[in-house]
Amino acid sequence: MMENLLNYRAFLFEPIAEAMEEMLILIDEDFRVTFMNQSAKRMLGTTSDDYIGRHFFDELGAWVLHGNRENTKVHEVLKRDVAVRGIMRQTTDGRTLSVNLVPVTIHEGLRGVLITAEDVTHLREMEQELDMAFALTLPNSKVEYRLRSIPEYQDWYNPDTKQITITGIVVDGGYRHVVNCLKIFSQLTAKGVSRLIGIDKDELVQVFVYHDIGKSQPILKVGDVVDPRSVFEDGKQHADRSADMAKYYYNQNDDIVDIIRFHHHSERELPETFPRRLLPMLRLFQIVDGTSAAVTRGGVSVCFDVQDCTVKIREVNHRPEYNGIRTVNLYTGQREWEPLGEHQHPQTRE
Ligand SMILES: [Fe+2]
Ligand SMILES: [Fe+2]
Repeated sequence: MMENLLNYRAFLFEPIAEAMEEMLILIDEDFRVTFMNQSAKRMLGTTSDDYIGRHFFDELGAWVLHGNRENTKVHEVLKRDVAVRGIMRQTTDGRTLSVNLVPVTIHEGLRGVLITAEDVTHLREMEQELDMAFALTLPNSKVEYRLRSIPEYQDWYNPDTKQITITGIVVDGGYRHVVNCLKIFSQLTAKGVSRLIGIDKDELVQVFVYHDIGKSQPILKVGDVVDPRSVFEDGKQHADRSADMAKYYYNQNDDIVDIIRFHHHSERELPETFPRRLLPMLRLFQIVDGTSAAVTRGGVSVCFDVQDCTVKIREVNHRPEYNGIRTVNLYTGQREWEPLGEHQHPQTRE
């Protein structure tokens, strides 16, 4: 029976595709649609088969394009031959899609992109309600306005030229980053991290809210190729500015201000005057800040474990070579990195 079915695998594609709840579209290298399942037709308001051969963006208008239409994620997937998952796109009628783009090679010289997407409008709405509730906890609307006006950029780094290509923009990135910091911190708190001596939950929440309010980002668009060292300000500059703002405009205490001021310093760079007793909080802050930055830009999922004063962070990336478990001892500062996967041995890294 099994053998019989295997003989007919080629014929199974359509029944499987039609049975899927997700929308599934196959386009060729010229962005011409070659297949759409029922869910995709329903989502895009097409009933007949006249979609075949139509241009995915120009004629089908699958989702709203911002920025350079010659440099979309689909272009990137074709160019780099690497899948991109979980990107959010809006349809023209205001629904939110979570989209996966996977490059496919049918046979030599014939390539395309397999697009799967799921309608996540209801999740987005829930997230917006939570955001509104969170906004009420912020000290005032100026802080919210400031955070919402800081964009974060998704990019692709070229190791040969040491330049980055901007591939996406999170318009309210500063705000999303703080919300993600608080979400991650709440996960760690649930695991018991704030029961440790030296970790003050309320102070850390204030640090998360204010730590980047002095950040100034360059204005870039999708497709720009830039040298990150010359375009982006050194993190230590905005840390200093944010600390002054938190101190003078929002009367935050010295511990909160010190952690904000040095949040982009490595431990070796800290001045003698930095209170040693704040090191566990600074280390915890930097774990959460770094993880949130990666989550906000997309492409990584994380889970945590806390054992006594040691935090373990398990990272799963789109690029499996970066998958691993990071261990940080909040009291001693000792750090370890263990790649995820077989036949690999733990390494220690700074
Ligand atoms: Fe920062
Ligand atoms: Fe940050």
